Amino acid sequence: MLRIVVLNPKGGSGKSTIATGIAAMYAARGYRPVLMDFDPQGSSSRWLEKRSANQPPIHGVAAYARSLAVTRRFQLRVPPGTDRVIVDTPAALHPHEFNEHVRDADAVLVPVMPSDADIHACSRTIGHLLISGKIKRRENRLAVIANRVKPNTIIFRTLMRFLDQMQIPVVTTLRDSQHYVYANEQGLGLHDLNPARVHPELQQWDALWAWLESRKPFAQPAVAVGLT
Ligand SMILES: Nc1ncnc2c1ncn2[C@@H]1O[C@H](COP(=O)(O)OP(=O)(O)O)[C@@H](O)[C@H]1O
Ligand SMILES: [Mg+2]
Repeated sequence: MLRIVVLNPKGGSGKSTIATGIAAMYAARGYRPVLMDFDPQGSSSRWLEKRSANQPPIHGVAAYARSLAVTRRFQLRVPPGTDRVIVDTPAALHPHEFNEHVRDADAVLVPVMPSDADIHACSRTIGHLLISGKIKRRENRLAVIANRVKPNTIIFRTLMRFLDQMQIPVVTTLRDSQHYVYANEQGLGLHDLNPARVHPELQQWDALWAWLESRKPFAQPAVAVGLT
């Protein structure tokens, strides 16, 4: 089982868009993903509620909804056969809460948008993760996704220069696209849309896919279909 955590305390950086998109990507490719929503705002859970039964299935766990009736472990259980767990985390997560999420993660993705405020927030987040030793560089499980990118802008070049200096891999850059907004409203991921219409975006996700799957070479899908 591969555990993928999307984390950045900055709201609006694209955590839920990326977490739901990854879940949809795995579902479309025959895996059995679980989308675990730790954000009390519940945007990933709402996305899943909108998802039609005709779409490749994704199992949801509303991890934010604490219950006194059952143990935490029971609440966070995943169905047998689950092969990918994608964790969406809240905004305003405090650094001392990072460990709970990154401890068991095979991949930690930090989405960052090209803006001064986001670059600063990203630098603080990565600093907290690395300096406190929660994640070691040599583990190669931490990566950044440059999100909502408008190529050929000065701020995008600033962002890429900053990420280069941090020496953290940038697994992909996702362009600013209305397809994400549309997909989000329908409970869909990019991989549920007509491939001919979203071809440039899909290529950007292929880079993310390759990096995620290289985290655990032996993590095979439970049901492998259409793996081309
Ligand atoms: N690549 C993108 N292109 C266009 N809009 C995007 C993109 N990524 C995210 N968005 C939009 O930005 C807003 C915030 O994204 P969201 O995933 O909810 O961020 P977070 O979960 O970090 O708060 C949403 O309205 C989403 O549709
Ligand atoms: Mg969110």
